[in-house]
Amino acid sequence: MTSGQSTGSTQSLSSDERELVEAAVDARDRAYAPYSRFRVGAALRTDDGTIVTGANVENAAYPATICAERVAGAYAVAHGQRSFRMLAVVGTGPAVCTPCGTCRQFLYEFGPDLEVLATGDTGAVTRYVLGRDLLRDGFGPATLEGT
Ligand code: THU
Repeated sequence: MTSGQSTGSTQSLSSDERELVEAAVDARDRAYAPYSRFRVGAALRTDDGTIVTGANVENAAYPATICAERVAGAYAVAHGQRSFRMLAVVGTGPAVCTPCGTCRQFLYEFGPDLEVLATGDTGAVTRYVLGRDLLRDGFGPATLEGT
């Protein structure tokens, strides 16, 4: 096992999955990343089959930057969608771009079973399940139940 990718698996994609990855790649073109120059695109497949996309939006006050995954997720929620089946995320360059820690936590709120397809410019895709591979034993709504 190599560090960083030890829990994912690289697999071929169904046509729906390929469509989701392509939507993420397309969304990446709309990234606003003048500081890092690391452009990220994300695409969420909601339970009704809709695709909601996002791109990273940076800020001169660096911590105000928002990642692509949270842009997509916040947009979906604000438009009435809270059930997500799958996320595709693509960064810049050959490395497979996995969601950052904050995005993992953000997405966990809406379900640990979310499937994540992480990719970079090589086209190789690594497949994860959020609550199994990316945020095991995460803190979520269930933790607060009964308080
Ligand atoms: N970024 C994302 O959009 N998603 C991630 O999961 C990792 C990081 C963005 C934030 C920042 O604009 C740039 O990538 C470099 O960190």
